Amino acid sequence: MAGLDIDTLVAAARAARERAVAPYSHFTVGAALETADGRLVTGCNIENSTYGLTICAERVAVFKAVSDGHTSFVRVAVVADTHDPTPPCGPCRQILWEFCGDIEVVLANLTAVTGRYRLRDLLPLPFDARLLGRG
Ligand code: THU
Repeated sequence: MAGLDIDTLVAAARAARERAVAPYSHFTVGAALETADGRLVTGCNIENSTYGLTICAERVAVFKAVSDGHTSFVRVAVVADTHDPTPPCGPCRQILWEFCGDIEVVLANLTAVTGRYRLRDLLPLPFDARLLGRG
């Protein structure tokens, strides 16, 4: 399967970032997940006054997708307004691994793609269901 154009994926993450709710950090992030059948599911970070209940854009996208019944993914794009690539945080890497496996992670800012990785390289030696005898 050819998959979506990378510009389409990144554009969706940029648009999702516009919907971020980040009144505390003012750091807005968008994510776009590409499903194996070529659909897009987006997310943005949503902050909370308790700070600790803040949820990252990547996890919003994954949980939206899973709750809509998507089970197979090929790529995620993450967009922030930073010169250096903004990679998924540690907890998001774990959640992405759990539900998406070794997908491609495309990092971008408002004008360019800043990095392309495999999730296994961002999360080497992951804990997962295999270790529980369920993988
Ligand atoms: N954030 C994300 O949404 N994704 C990342 O990859 C890094 C951090 C959010 C969480 C918080 O709302 C803000 O960025 C600052 O950490």
